[in-house]
Amino acid sequence: MKILLTGAAGFIGWKVTEFLLADGHTVVGVDNLNDAYDVRLKHWRLDQLKDHPNFTFHRLDITSQKELRELWELKEQRGRGAEEQGSGGKRLDFGLRPWSL
Ligand SMILES: NC(=O)c1ccc[n+]([C@@H]2O[C@H](COP(=O)([O-])OP(=O)(O)OC[C@H]3O[C@@H](n4cnc5c(N)ncnc54)[C@H](O)[C@@H]3O)[C@@H](O)[C@H]2O)c1
Repeated sequence: MKILLTGAAGFIGWKVTEFLLADGHTVVGVDNLNDAYDVRLKHWRLDQLKDHPNFTFHRLDITSQKELRELWELKEQRGRGAEEQGSGGKRLDFGLRPWSL
């Protein structure tokens, strides 16, 4: 299953992401990396996840319609790209600030 997981850099979101990846799921993690507490901890958590082939991360604010729309359009674009290449599930890179920490 492909899962959109909010707060992926947070205490709970990071652990849930680990469990989901270990269970074979694909996780699209989002987080705005706010500074409610030391942001280095959030960066450290994302560092543990970033090399997993089934994990992608986008820094965005889920209260922003614009940023959510961009993420949705990216998903649509990715779907079309995969169809065009006949490679459903192939990992394609698009620009919405992936790993812009
Ligand atoms: N930690 C606990 O023991 C516990 C227990 C019960 C309930 N909860 C609840 O679970 C939730 C997560 O808890 P946590 O301990 O993982 O907190 P956390 O602060 O570590 O994680 C929340 C994450 O969400 C991100 N975030 C906040 N607003 C955002 C936004 N608008 N857009 C994108 N990302 C945003 C933050 O940057 C943070 O990384 C909270 O609602 C908390 O009240 C936590």
